[in-house]
Amino acid sequence: MKILVLNGPNLNLLGSREKEHYGSLSLAEIENRLKKLAKELKVSLSFYQSNSETALVNKIQAAKTKFDGILINAAAYTHTSIAIRDALASVGVPFVEVHLSNLAKREDFRRRSMISDLASGVIFGFGPDSYLLGLRGLVARVKAGSD
Ligand code: DQA
Repeated sequence: MKILVLNGPNLNLLGSREKEHYGSLSLAEIENRLKKLAKELKVSLSFYQSNSETALVNKIQAAKTKFDGILINAAAYTHTSIAIRDALASVGVPFVEVHLSNLAKREDFRRRSMISDLASGVIFGFGPDSYLLGLRGLVARVKAGSD
């Protein structure tokens, strides 16, 4: 099983960025934790981060024939991007939405997600563990063959 791990804008700054919301682990450290879990789950992971909405849309479009599932933290684009929503809807690859912070405890504009209703599941508020929990959930869904 092949899973694409997609990260959106400013997540390249994890570790130094607003630690009170996002903690002190870098994106590379989170990816290393995911790699360990992927070994245990016997799935292969491919990682991609971009600050560009266009690049993320292109990556999602290309995922249609290459990946069985997508683990996505679309970051700020979660709240704004119809283009990312449409790309996810178009490819029909099952995905799980994750966020480090607890969106329900933050500004109102972070409560709206453009993609949650299309997701197999949504996990937020557990810091880096959101990614690990999300990967477990996604792999289980893909194995079960349901979205
Ligand atoms: C985030 C939450 C978003 O609202 C924010 O724009 C981010 C990170 C999170 O992981 O908690 O950049 O997706």
